[in-house]
Amino acid sequence: MSKSITTIRPIHPFPARMAPSIALRRLSGRKGTLRVLDPMVGSGTTAVAARLRGHRAIGFDTDPLALLIAKTWASDIKPKHLRKSAEKVLKEAEKIYKKLHVKDAYPVGADKETKAFIRFWFDATNRRQLAALAGSISKIKESVDRTLLWCAFSRLIITKKIGASLAMDVSHSRPHKKYKTAPIKPFDRFLASVETILKNSPFSAARKIPIAQIRKGDARELPIESRSIDLVITSPPYLNAIDYLRGHKLSLVWMRHWISDLRELRSRNVGAEHSVDSELDDELSKALKRMGETTKLPGRIQDMLKQYLRDMDKVFSEIARVLRKNGEAVVVIGDSMIKGVFIRNSWALVSIAKKNGLILYSSRRRPLLVSRRYLPPPDHRISGKELRARMREEVLLTFRKSRKIAI
Ligand SMILES: C[S@@+](CC[C@H](N)C(=O)[O-])C[C@H]1O[C@@H](n2cnc3c(N)ncnc32)[C@H](O)[C@@H]1O
Repeated sequence: MSKSITTIRPIHPFPARMAPSIALRRLSGRKGTLRVLDPMVGSGTTAVAARLRGHRAIGFDTDPLALLIAKTWASDIKPKHLRKSAEKVLKEAEKIYKKLHVKDAYPVGADKETKAFIRFWFDATNRRQLAALAGSISKIKESVDRTLLWCAFSRLIITKKIGASLAMDVSHSRPHKKYKTAPIKPFDRFLASVETILKNSPFSAARKIPIAQIRKGDARELPIESRSIDLVITSPPYLNAIDYLRGHKLSLVWMRHWISDLRELRSRNVGAEHSVDSELDDELSKALKRMGETTKLPGRIQDMLKQYLRDMDKVFSEIARVLRKNGEAVVVIGDSMIKGVFIRNSWALVSIAKKNGLILYSSRRRPLLVSRRYLPPPDHRISGKELRARMREEVLLTFRKSRKIAI
């Protein structure tokens, strides 16, 4: 595969996607076939970049929509086959739609809370069309095609302005109700959505390159062997910056993920606003101090920061465990502003990495493109030029596994 590729086109919106150039650069000019891991793979940028450079990619995430997008983006596409399946799905859905009464227009087995959620975000016609499409996609036997078609379905809903729901800004995970009738009808756009995926898919079955493995898994407890990874490239969630599932729910309910399950999943994710009140060990307490003037924050938020540190401690411990001797980890992170207090996530991560035997090798700041800044709305308490500039940057940290580490 060409080493000159410098960017890749997304197939589905995703908040806080990593800039592909970061992964592509880190992977170019490397000898041999590396095993490259992203323990929080999101939409799959690391996996796609690794495959493009001819390496073996492994990615984990807890968000079912992230997994769907990453699997689709990193998979081998058979365009003819997919187009045929898509046409079949649409035809079948049109038949189902004619007989489907609006009172039954929900995903099969949906509970009361999920049904109410669907009624709030979707008008009656689109509920019927989406239920019919969902029913028809779930009947597709071939799993690659089915995954790709779900991704095309999801693209109809997860949009910035004009989608199949009554909301705007779903793709930024900030859905708010805007319309009385949704601006698009799913049946009119489904085949075009499939075409966009085909156009932006980097891999075809014709090329023989290692496949990427994308699996459900928790970065704090990775289901992989110790010392089996050459390179980790990852961008963990920023503290409190994005509630990924808030927007994703609008699409995931149609794939039979119920609201109560998604709520539970969200509360366990790294970076979620949940608080567990317990003390930190000495090293994590130091990391907390390095974050900034955290004592100015309400107790609830201080507890959330502590939980973030504990979670990231587990993530780094796992990264250190799975890396081979001399293995490297590239971590992309942004700093945060919470209630007017500047929080240096990057400094805290350097301390936590060191605690786990990962030594900082280089640190570089890079500007965040405005279009990629899926950050919360501007905080007017951010005063001072320097701070505002900081919020428009991300930090690229490169760690090496210390030789002294015993795992
Ligand atoms: C900043 S995003 C990653 C974006 C990704 N680099 C890309 O380019 O699309 C962070 C990801 O971490 C995931 N995440 C949060 N907690 C996790 C956990 N405990 N285990 C695995 N992934 C987790 C979120 O679901 C989200 O997809």
